[in-house]
Amino acid sequence: MIIAKEISKVKENVREWKKQGLSIGLVPTMGYLHEGHASLIKKAREENDRVIVSDFVNPIQFGPKEDLATYPRDFDADCRLCESIGADLIFNPEPCEMYEDDFHSYVGVNTLSEGLCGKSRPIHFNGVCTVVTKLFNITEADRAYFGQKDAQQLAIVRRMVRDLNYNIQIVGCPIIREADGLAKSSRNTYLSENERQKATILHKALEQGEKMVRDGETDANKIVKTVRDIIESEPLAKVDYVEIVDWNELQKVDKIDGPILMAVAVYIGKVRLIDNFIVENSIVIEMV
Ligand code: PAJ
Repeated sequence: MIIAKEISKVKENVREWKKQGLSIGLVPTMGYLHEGHASLIKKAREENDRVIVSDFVNPIQFGPKEDLATYPRDFDADCRLCESIGADLIFNPEPCEMYEDDFHSYVGVNTLSEGLCGKSRPIHFNGVCTVVTKLFNITEADRAYFGQKDAQQLAIVRRMVRDLNYNIQIVGCPIIREADGLAKSSRNTYLSENERQKATILHKALEQGEKMVRDGETDANKIVKTVRDIIESEPLAKVDYVEIVDWNELQKVDKIDGPILMAVAVYIGKVRLIDNFIVENSIVIEMV
């Protein structure tokens, strides 16, 4: 597996692969890889001749009060995981390689970025869109893999690709969970043992919401209230948001009559966790 720190090294390999007519799959990550990331890399491995994993904690998607400095990192373990799955190249640039001192160009998607996580993280999705654009251009990938774990991110990247005619296919992948239902996340390592146990409340509450939809409930506010009440029954949990939005524009709905995303963001102690489910035509789907 090739380890590339410089953009030029990635481009050199890409040029050679393109010359040979090989397809390229890209998995953008911020490292500290777990089975959620691994599932994306495996899917990319199945569907492409060459697989690039980017491993870069992107500073411009973190707000001033967020966890950029303490974001967990273990590049050696990431390399071992990528190699074991058969990735061809891992791209691990320094921030100054991606953002020169006079960097001024940003990409953003309006409306979809404004609600849900965008409300408490106003610059986050512009940072994501900008880095993802750079990664698409550097790797010239045919396909890029994103998890439903970050459903708003997936919807935004898909819209950016459609609106701006990027020449890449976005592949959505299902949420990978711990045995007790907690969605796998690099941030789970911040949880104390007690908090880790209590964090299962997100999944438990969403399961109840999902059941209500399956049983035919169409009153979104009723489902939101039920899910919120379950989460708030846990004293350690503090709700940032619990929302049902349409799975196209990500706007709040009162009545469920089309594809929807039910998403939650909850603080367990100081750790902010997210989880969701998606329903298309009253059928709860695992993959989008
Ligand atoms: P990161 O949080 O490292 O996640 C990288 C990718 O892995 C995302 O597409 C995310 O949805 C997916 N992922 C994380 N946990 C998952 C799980 N439990 N199941 C399935 N997929 C999971 O998302 C980012 O990095 C960044 O915003 C990035 C897109 C790399 C831009 O910097």
